[in-house]
Amino acid sequence: MTTSLSVNINKIATLRNARGENNPDVVKVALDCEQFGADGITVHPRPDERHIRRSDVYSLRPVIKAEFNIEGYPSPEFMDLVLKVKPEQVTLVPDTPDTLTSCAGWDVEPNFEFLSSIVEALHQGGIRSSIFVGTDIENIKLAAKTSTDRIELYTKPYADLYPNDPEKAVMPFVEASRAAHKVGLGVNAGHDLSLENLQYFHKNLPYLNEVSIGHALICDALYYGLEDTIRRYKECLKD
Ligand code: PXP
Repeated sequence: MTTSLSVNINKIATLRNARGENNPDVVKVALDCEQFGADGITVHPRPDERHIRRSDVYSLRPVIKAEFNIEGYPSPEFMDLVLKVKPEQVTLVPDTPDTLTSCAGWDVEPNFEFLSSIVEALHQGGIRSSIFVGTDIENIKLAAKTSTDRIELYTKPYADLYPNDPEKAVMPFVEASRAAHKVGLGVNAGHDLSLENLQYFHKNLPYLNEVSIGHALICDALYYGLEDTIRRYKECLKD
């Protein structure tokens, strides 16, 4: 199946914020990513605005032609923003405001009513929902019962184990992808995917709609340039 590449541009905003002016220009970089072949742009506006700001989200919305994916913890402020901006997809992550980067998926059971109401609000706004989860099958089945359209699999455990034992690393994700598909969920994946581990992940997952990649891709762009880097990541996603 075709797997889309959504480029997470948080790190571009981190770089811009280091000097307080508008270099690099987040909107220009997003448009260039699109032009270089990205199928989507992902941002994660955090409450402290340490990278992407609310104002960036408003600036990006009218100019992005690729799929716009906004990820974040569904606080009232976050929901107000996404329901105004109406991206194609919202990815719900369980981070508290001080979390450095997303480091786990949702435990769906204790959050079931909350997540179900958020998914419903997104659907009423015409927005596709995705819930960030690990590979636990029961958790994924419960996620499906919230009526979410997709899940996003947290891939750091895969990335950590891949160099030592790729087969063992990918197996829980293969099973999770199969189980998700069986209960009607689309499957996204993200976190620590890289030029080293992406091709194997894509080759092995039976169902994979989208990968969302930031850190490694922006690091690679320092050496290869953004255009060549995006081409290389897209190459990993070829069937
Ligand atoms: N998916 C989610 C939910 C995330 O929070 C992040 C990090 O912002 C990513 C994907 C991308 O991870 P990475 O920057 O390691 O590629």
